[in-house]
Amino acid sequence: MLNGKRILLIITGGIAAYKSLDLIRRLRDAGAAVTPVMTRSAAEFVTPLSVSSLAGQAVHQDLFDLTQESEIGHIQLSRSADLIVVAPATADIMAKAAQGHANDLATTVLLATDTPVLMVPAMNVRMWDHPATQRNVSLLQQDGVAFVGPDVGGMACGEFGAGRMSEPAEILAAIAAHFGPKPLAGRRVLVTSGPTHEPIDPVRYIANRSSGAQGAAIATALRDLGADVIFVTGPADAPTPQGVTEISVETAAQMMAAVLDHLPVDAAVFAAAVADWRVENASSHKVKKVAGALPELSLTENPDILAQVSQLQTGRPDLVVGFAAETNDVIENAKAKRQRKGCDWIVANDVSPETGIMGGSENQVSLITGAGVTPWPRLSKTETGQKLAQSIADHFNTAEPR
Ligand code: CTP
Repeated sequence: MLNGKRILLIITGGIAAYKSLDLIRRLRDAGAAVTPVMTRSAAEFVTPLSVSSLAGQAVHQDLFDLTQESEIGHIQLSRSADLIVVAPATADIMAKAAQGHANDLATTVLLATDTPVLMVPAMNVRMWDHPATQRNVSLLQQDGVAFVGPDVGGMACGEFGAGRMSEPAEILAAIAAHFGPKPLAGRRVLVTSGPTHEPIDPVRYIANRSSGAQGAAIATALRDLGADVIFVTGPADAPTPQGVTEISVETAAQMMAAVLDHLPVDAAVFAAAVADWRVENASSHKVKKVAGALPELSLTENPDILAQVSQLQTGRPDLVVGFAAETNDVIENAKAKRQRKGCDWIVANDVSPETGIMGGSENQVSLITGAGVTPWPRLSKTETGQKLAQSIADHFNTAEPR
């Protein structure tokens, strides 16, 4: 998969550095050569001996190492790779790289290079969310740096949130995607994701359960295949992938407007769990609880975004993909949904609580097209997203029946 590729792996000082050992092993198994660079603090978390043993190469640590400098030199080191991967990338290295510091080997390599850079952030959730870090991410993106993650989850420090380093398999997939073909280059694809929140009053709302993880994985995979991705997301737990155009919305009506605003697109994937109803008489102030008296909520139907876009007379995307999250008669319900809404494909899945799919990291779907039903194996949401993105790319390449 990565035969002959040269990866310069910069390991910085975070607890997630232990995952980089597994990453090195996977990169080498995939055929890549790994040249490791470690910062001083990285060596507090993993030993240079472990890193060099797994990489099969000496670790570069010092800017002013006379032997290494005479043999290779940091400028050459920075340019002798096909890709520079920074994993884990701490808030500190991101800040330094964003500002152009060059006060150790890792930062000097990053400043001296014209090789593509992929950063894999790992830090405490507050550090990740801090405006300074977000500013640095955006500066680095403007400089062309790509990102994988961070993931949402429990952290070594005991807190929970976005900041956990992506798993080695995911990093490897992103590296493979970097070198892989870009069959969707020049294609514009819109993805809806997450739940919508329909206000009852300023503090209460109606919503569907949705983490947004599957939508984010689809957007990531489409981006990796070269698509220009418009990501219209409700208030989701899963972070928005880097390198897509994010449009944040709250309600179904806003999602509808945002989708129409961003047409035309070549393909649209409706992965959002849109609330079917909204409260017609939503209150502009907090409804007070009165003992024995229940508030009267009058519901009205939300626009069906998938159906409306599928049935557009002009400007309909060439390929419209919907989801059908069902708890019973999955295939029959999904087939009927495909007909009713007028979309081309439906991704159907069983979200009964016992499947563990809702809120979990895996999915098991069937792809329903005009040609029939194809069950896919149980896969991670990342892999399901990749398989769907690849099917979309195949559709455009072969124009097979919808
Ligand atoms: N969808 C949409 N707008 C809505 C409701 C649903 O775009 N107002 C899309 C979803 O993003 C998904 C598909 O339609 O791609 C199916 O959503 P689902 O909730 O399963 O379908 P419903 O039409 O709401 O049918 P039901 O809830 O009765 O199963």
